[in-house]
Amino acid sequence: MSHADSPKGDVRRGACILAMETSCDETAVAIFKDGRLVASEVASQIAIHSEFGGVVPEVASRNHLRALRPTLDRTLRSAGLVLREIDAIAATNGPGLATSLMLGMSMAKGLAVALKKPFIAVNHMEGHLLSPFMNDPSGPCDSVGLVVSGGHTLLVRVLGIGRYQMLGKTVDDAAGEAFDKVGKLLGLPYPGGPRVAALAEHGNASRFELPRSMLHSGDYQFSFSGLKTAVRYLLPKHDPVPVADICASFQEAVVDVLVEKTMRAVRLSEVRTLALSGGVSCNVRLRECFQKACSDAGVRLLLAPHALCTDNAAMIAYVAFLHLRDGAAGDLAADVCPNLAAMNWLCRESKLTPAG
Ligand code: KG4
Ligand code: ZN
Repeated sequence: MSHADSPKGDVRRGACILAMETSCDETAVAIFKDGRLVASEVASQIAIHSEFGGVVPEVASRNHLRALRPTLDRTLRSAGLVLREIDAIAATNGPGLATSLMLGMSMAKGLAVALKKPFIAVNHMEGHLLSPFMNDPSGPCDSVGLVVSGGHTLLVRVLGIGRYQMLGKTVDDAAGEAFDKVGKLLGLPYPGGPRVAALAEHGNASRFELPRSMLHSGDYQFSFSGLKTAVRYLLPKHDPVPVADICASFQEAVVDVLVEKTMRAVRLSEVRTLALSGGVSCNVRLRECFQKACSDAGVRLLLAPHALCTDNAAMIAYVAFLHLRDGAAGDLAADVCPNLAAMNWLCRESKLTPAG
């Protein structure tokens, strides 16, 4: 966000920012105005991809192309605004599916050029990371953030806007990916996460002793692929398969590791705020356990509302708003970065010092 090759718009508190998010299978547009969210629309492709058991990149981009314009129109209508009232345009530039990212970025850049307004590229993971602060008038503060999504599991020390320190991440599957893979093993439709969680409500979480990988590894890394494999080995041993008990036992193992390691990071960082985000943060059991752990530790837990935990453009508009308010200039030269590795994007864009 450093090139000054696109105009600097009015990015004071009253600025109106339009954002697009097309990194995976949700086409999303949102508007942030007067420092608050005024419209957020998501056209979900879940029903389309569940037919294939997962996201098909080519299908995703064709559907973004179809959905972007109507979603943009719906968002403007819902905000009661017209395009010439927008002061800046933002879009997710990575990480995500290349051809999907390209669609949101191209449309956003096209609008920025036509309207002569600044274009801001936003990292999807920074969007998730800061989303719990959106409803907090004081905004991002010294805290620990846990991002648990379908593609990432990141434990991050937030020092301020754009100032992050990576504490740990998954060495294999992301937490959401593990939920989805276990769902698939159990024959549940994509995405498995919400279905595994719903079945777990009726199951016995202590029936199966499943591995808590890297719980005592002495660092902040995570691993969930061994847990998924343990579930796979369990299946042939039972007929009928005790689906609810397996879901509950699996969920408990994921939650145990996430809560334990995150709270250790909170304690050692001596911060008073924990921000939980990403699709898996919709999980009721995970929320419950973090609520209890934070209340015991006297730590403030910030959670985004459910609709803002999974992919959305509100979090992208919010991050663009924060950076613009801090003086960032537009950057029409910003490119799509599908592999914007979690570690590197923070280092490159946000002066991260990897934890030693
Ligand atoms: O953040 P998100 O929408 O997309 C990515 O950026 O990856 O997260 C989607 C992930 C999926 O893996 C989905 O199964 C998971 O979040 N998820 C859940 C729940 N709701 C969504 N996992 C567990 N329990 C849930 N209730
Ligand atoms: Zn996401």
